Amino acid sequence: MARALVTGSTSGLGLEFAWQLAGTGHDLVLVSRDEDRLHAVSEQIRDVHDVRVEILPADLSERERLERVAVRLTDPVDRIDLLINNAGYGLRGGFLDIGVEDHEKQMDTLMKAVLVLSHAAARTMVQRRRGAILNVSSLAGYTTAGPYAASKSWVTVFTESLAMELKGTGVTATALLPGFVQTEFHERAAMSMDGMPRVTWLKAPFVVEQALKDTAKGTVLSIPSVKYRTAGEFSRIAPRPLIRAMTSPNWYRRFQQRAVLQSQRKASRRALRAPWQRDDET
Ligand SMILES: NC(=O)c1ccc[n+]([C@@H]2O[C@H](COP(=O)([O-])OP(=O)(O)OC[C@H]3O[C@@H](n4cnc5c(N)ncnc54)[C@H](OP(=O)(O)O)[C@@H]3O)[C@@H](O)[C@H]2O)c1
Repeated sequence: MARALVTGSTSGLGLEFAWQLAGTGHDLVLVSRDEDRLHAVSEQIRDVHDVRVEILPADLSERERLERVAVRLTDPVDRIDLLINNAGYGLRGGFLDIGVEDHEKQMDTLMKAVLVLSHAAARTMVQRRRGAILNVSSLAGYTTAGPYAASKSWVTVFTESLAMELKGTGVTATALLPGFVQTEFHERAAMSMDGMPRVTWLKAPFVVEQALKDTAKGTVLSIPSVKYRTAGEFSRIAPRPLIRAMTSPNWYRRFQQRAVLQSQRKASRRALRAPWQRDDET
């Protein structure tokens, strides 16, 4: 039976990866910080699917914990066939509003962990001439939206380069570049997404299904949905000053204020049309 190691598997995309992989007969190694939640997830999956589920609690921004996960990836007996580097989070606020230690911790999770785990997995997989690595990046990596975007840009370029280096070895590397997905991501970062048009949101099951199909084909860049593939192409070819202007914190703040105002106006127009709200006595 094939086995997958998924980081960030207690919620959102990682949790969905775990369920879909268990559903297709993969044993799992689940990595996240919240040990109670990991236990609960593993029990729920085992109740439904006939697969083995190990849990490996770890904060990937801590070098010692990260090393334990890297060692698990090199186990010659209980081998890992698919590594999914998915764990990640955003930070609310501008670069200067956030303490430098928090930036460093985020970079260690988004980049260093991906580097270390990909290294351990790829070396081991190449010896067996079999395996796949899926790194969850983001379309934000094509923008200039702060250190998060810069880290995701690194993940995409790193994965593209790894894919080329692995050519002909039987091992593949894929970067997943989602747009906005309904997960705990924005709530955890206390980011208000009020007023964001519904059409911009993707659902985790769809994103994960597409990503797993692309990984199985060895596709290097996986961008689920036509609208986000188009947006991705636009951000790659658009003049950089335009991208900078469109994704600067100021633009984003203005966009959100306008969106909230519009939805408030729409709501009050709807309210005025409601017959039970008419004041007949005046
Ligand atoms: N949602 C979106 O719109 C979107 C768009 C593009 C890309 N992405 C990327 O997709 C990936 C998954 O995010 P999501 O949207 O599914 O968010 P989510 O629901 O908040 O899930 C994030 C997962 O990462 C784990 N995690 C966070 N920091 C960790 C650390 N230091 N060590 C170990 N585990 C850690 C969390 O679990 P614990 O708290 O238990 O550790 C959780 O399981 C991230 O890399 C994110 O950047 C998301």
